[in-house]
Order: sequence, then structure tokens, then C-alpha cells
Amino acid sequence: MVNKQPAYGVGLAYRRFFHSDILANRNSIDFLELPTIDYVERSRRILGDPSGSFMREIREALPCVAHGISLSVGSVEAPAVDILHKTRAFLDEFEVDEFSDHLTFHRMGDQDLSVFMSMPFEDKAAQWMAHQYNESKRVLGQDFGLEVVTYTFPVAASKMTEVEFINRVADYCDCWFLFDAANLFINSTNHKYDPLKYLETLNGERVLHMHMAGGHYQDGEWIDSHSQPVPDEVFEMLELALQHTSARAIILERDDEPGNFGSITDDLERAREIFYKYRPREVPDELVKHGAPKFKASKALPEIDIANLPPELAGMRAYQEALITCAFEMADGKHHGSSKEEIIAGYDLPDEWKNRWSQMDWKQMLNLKRKMGYVQEFEDNAARFYRMVEMQEWAQQLGPQEIFKSRADG
Ligand SMILES: [Fe+2]
Ligand SMILES: [Fe+2]
Repeated sequence: MVNKQPAYGVGLAYRRFFHSDILANRNSIDFLELPTIDYVERSRRILGDPSGSFMREIREALPCVAHGISLSVGSVEAPAVDILHKTRAFLDEFEVDEFSDHLTFHRMGDQDLSVFMSMPFEDKAAQWMAHQYNESKRVLGQDFGLEVVTYTFPVAASKMTEVEFINRVADYCDCWFLFDAANLFINSTNHKYDPLKYLETLNGERVLHMHMAGGHYQDGEWIDSHSQPVPDEVFEMLELALQHTSARAIILERDDEPGNFGSITDDLERAREIFYKYRPREVPDELVKHGAPKFKASKALPEIDIANLPPELAGMRAYQEALITCAFEMADGKHHGSSKEEIIAGYDLPDEWKNRWSQMDWKQMLNLKRKMGYVQEFEDNAARFYRMVEMQEWAQQLGPQEIFKSRADG
């Protein structure tokens, strides 16, 4: 029987390599956040959990929410309908009520950076985000959360601050937010703003889930790699955010396979101590009876026709396309030795966007190239892991005698 309790307290992002550790430590984990990518991407599902038996075991053991990384809601193009349908199929199959993806863009056409990029912080971009959220929600059949992401660089000459932009998105639609304590630490450090002022400005009522994770410091910049235990600074952000938001489901993200599960349960325990300073011990009745609260847009969203975009959005689309193409070209070694001006002049962009792009410190494009390399390495490791799972399963199906016999045969 599927566990239908709501997610409340401190949970863990499910990773297949923790499967048996999670079951063995289920009393220290309040709920799990399931990565939809392992089920939306055909190869991962086929190699990782073809019959869904791992997921069913997990769904019986603990309450679950789900998290995706593939929607690219901010891309100024048609929504990713195929991914949305597969996500919906996953949520239906395993009876998961709460889902989130990210407040960002990372794809244009068939080019996907897999690195989250900042939207321009301005009204038209908030309108686009809300429009695309509404379109996605229609296919998904339910409202969903948007995670506030880390970004290598903001878009130059944006008219709002990051937090004003997030609030504006909420004004235009009924989304809720996933707020990441590590991202607040990383963004406020890298982009130099005061996290407390940020939280005081944020529409905290919309924040229902939170992430926390440990990243690493590289070339003078914090990277959100989920590779380390949660540092003190992130626990401080978690504590601040609990005082300024409605968050009731805190999720630890850890992506590197650790030697022992103990450092994970230590982080969960420490987060739980902080959580219960600000939240009741018992799951609130309201949440058990009625589920997650529903929100409403407070501003009218103008109609947007994707076939006939207003100039601001057509410009934003051209910028997204040029930026993504350029990042791939730079990763392939193109543009070596060319100046920023020469590179930008080579793309089909309105002058306003050429100007905005050229205000950027070009070192940041190189940082982006490095991040793409980091994601690639992570993806390669994941692919290796799934190949290993497949081989283990083959070996189990064959059994020791058959392997011995086939070796003896030749
Ligand atoms: Fe995320
Ligand atoms: Fe996160």
C-alpha cells in the first residue's frame, strides 16, 4: 500500500545508490523527494528500475514528493510537452501529489546546457514564466513548485532584483516555491546581497519546500554540487528561512555516493532540531485533511501568443538561443582568441540584447563552460552507475552456474 501521508519535517532526496540504506534508516527520514529524471529518461528507467519495483518499495515505506530538472520553464519556446506527459505518468503511477522543477531556462530547441541560467529580472520575463507555468500545469494536471536556482551570472541591465522578480512571478500565477538554503548562501555570496533582507522581501507564504546541501568552493566561487555534508552557513540560512517562510518539508540533497550513510543521518538530525524550533511536532491537521494550500494570482496576466511574440519576448528568446549556442561553441573550442565584441556580433540579436550581453564580464562565460564540464562529468558517472546496475542484474538473472558454464563453453 502506498504511503499517502503528507511530506512534513526533514526528508532526503532519493538516489538509487542509497536504496537499501534508506530502507534500513527509514525511521530517521520523514519523507523522500523522488527524482523524476530517472523515470522520465527512458534509458535510465530501463537500466535502473524497469519494472518499477524499487520505486514501489519506496512508496510503501515513506511519504514522497517529486522533483524534476528537465522542464526549462523559462525557455521562450513551446513547453516540453513530452517531458510533461512522462512526468505526469510517473506522478500517477506512483501516486505522488507534490512536484517541483526550476525557475530558470537551460534549453532551446534540442540544445540543453543542463546548467540553470538566470532569467532577466524584469516584468516581461515574469509574465513569460507565469504563462509557461500555466501551460505546463495544464499538461501536468496539477499545480507545482518552482525552485529558486543558483546562477553563474545575472542578465545585465535587469530592472528588478532577484527577489523582486520571484515575487512578481508569484503575482502572475498560482505556483508555489521550493527554496534552497544552499542556493541562498551561494547566490548571496557570489552575487553579494544580504540574505536576511532578501528573506524579509520574499513572498515567503508561497515557499512550501526547502532544499539544503553542501557544495564546494572552486576558483573563488561556490558551486552547488551536493557533494559534501551541509556546512554551518547553510544551516544558518535554513534557520533564517524557516522564520520567514511557510516551508514545512525540508529536503537534504546529496549526490555523491558517500562511504557511510551516517553523515546523511547526522545532517537530517541537525536539520530536524532546527525545524522543530519553528514548527509544531505533529503534522498540522490542515495539511493532513486538505493537503498543500492553494494560491491565487493577484495580477492579470496578459495573453501571450507564441507565434507572435511581443518584441521584448522575441528579444529574450534570441538572447537565450545565442547564449546557449555560444556556450556550446566555446566548450568545443570555437571563438578561441576572438574578443567579446567579435563573438557577440556573430549572433542574430536585437541591438538592445547585444548591448546587454556585452555588459557582461566575459570571465563568466568561461565559468559557464567549466560548469558544463562539471555537469557532463556527473552525467557520465550516472551513466556508469546505471550500466553497473544493469550488469549486476544480468549476473543475478544468470546465476553463478550459468556464468561458470558460459565461461567454460568459451
Ligand atoms: Fe533542484
Ligand atoms: Fe536544490
